[in-house]
Amino acid sequence: MVTRDENVLLTETGPGTPGGKLMRHYWHPIALAGDVPADGAPMPIRLFGEDLVLFRDEQGRLGLLGTLCPHRCADLSYGRLEDGGLRCLYHGWLFDVNGRCLEQPAEPPESPYKDEIRHTAYKVVEKIGMIFAYMGEGEAPLMPDYEFFSATPEHIFLQKTFMECNYLQSLEGDIDPSHLSYLHRPAARKDSRNVPGSAKSADQYYREDGRPKLEWERSDFGIRIYSIRAAGEQGRYVRITNFIMPNKAAIIGNEGRVGEGYSVHWHVPIDDENHYRFDFIFNRVRPVGRERYEHEIAREIVDNRYIRNKANRYKQDRALMKTSNFTGMGDYFPVHDAFATETPGRIHDRSREHLGTSDNCIVAARRHILAAIEDVQAGRDPVHVIRDPAKNDMSSLVVASEIVPPGFDHHDLWKLRSRKKQAAE
Ligand code: FES
Ligand SMILES: [Fe+2]
Repeated sequence: MVTRDENVLLTETGPGTPGGKLMRHYWHPIALAGDVPADGAPMPIRLFGEDLVLFRDEQGRLGLLGTLCPHRCADLSYGRLEDGGLRCLYHGWLFDVNGRCLEQPAEPPESPYKDEIRHTAYKVVEKIGMIFAYMGEGEAPLMPDYEFFSATPEHIFLQKTFMECNYLQSLEGDIDPSHLSYLHRPAARKDSRNVPGSAKSADQYYREDGRPKLEWERSDFGIRIYSIRAAGEQGRYVRITNFIMPNKAAIIGNEGRVGEGYSVHWHVPIDDENHYRFDFIFNRVRPVGRERYEHEIAREIVDNRYIRNKANRYKQDRALMKTSNFTGMGDYFPVHDAFATETPGRIHDRSREHLGTSDNCIVAARRHILAAIEDVQAGRDPVHVIRDPAKNDMSSLVVASEIVPPGFDHHDLWKLRSRKKQAAE
């Protein structure tokens, strides 16, 4: 069980909090590249409880600065992009992407005062159409060498969605394989593609075995989770899901059901009561189903927010529940997940829970985060902070969805499917 004090440690990520210090040891996605186009307006953005402004200067360099001007605190997101930086409208102080003050036009020209000013500025990089920030102190660690970071544009689909709850609630939904047999249960399967080596789709297995055996093991990125369902004489249907420290999961998703890729859901706190869910939908074999995803977004999302949301009770249709839909909330999985993760409240009080054996992986993930907070408090780098290029090897991060024959040790499945192994063949 999680105590109230532990729940505070797990959920608070603002500046100076133990969880916030943990989070600030890692790179995180903060915006889609298209959110700040060249020549576009600076974007106000709140991250980990800090109000910031994201912008591109005239040379296209990305900057992430504190929103309020250090002079007399006018909002820099209204500023002018000119002369190599972002200029405050109030008295014209000019800041570059590193937070240096380049000009103070109302001060005496010989004054060295501008050189003493160093505004809050965080490191920002753009990669595969996503903007990432490092908001910690000191040297930034390496960006982990995830397979999906090497995807060409047609092999990856990116999405950003605003979620009305603490980041951990969404993360826990991702590493909770038993809910697939319930929350997302469809009446009729539209996607007829089968699990490799089987005549059935993943949804059929979810439906037929609602009590998956769940196991977890430590890895160098976090936790590897096995969910094992009966598959008759053929053996077992095994899925590998991963909790990647400190706030993301690599799961099967649509592309992974047929063994060609996976989805990463990266949950980035806006503050303790809201977060962005960044989806990286990756297919290494063929172009991702972009049209399908764009169609779903057009139907379900406006301005990065779900049309079905808590305020309208996710537009639940109880008649639909009798005929075609377990939830009555349509067939878009992320809406079901929003219901499940937002309705416990903005910050779920875990001390009220009654956990079962099927929550073992979630308990393990919580313990992992709490142990990492202890590491940070003791001055150590937490798990999955990588500084040595020789150790930046993500080949053990494997997502799988397949039938394994009787007698096969499923703990060996990730080794069989790792990128390194495949490259060697
Ligand atoms: S408040 Fe920004 S320059 Fe004065
Ligand atoms: Fe889900």
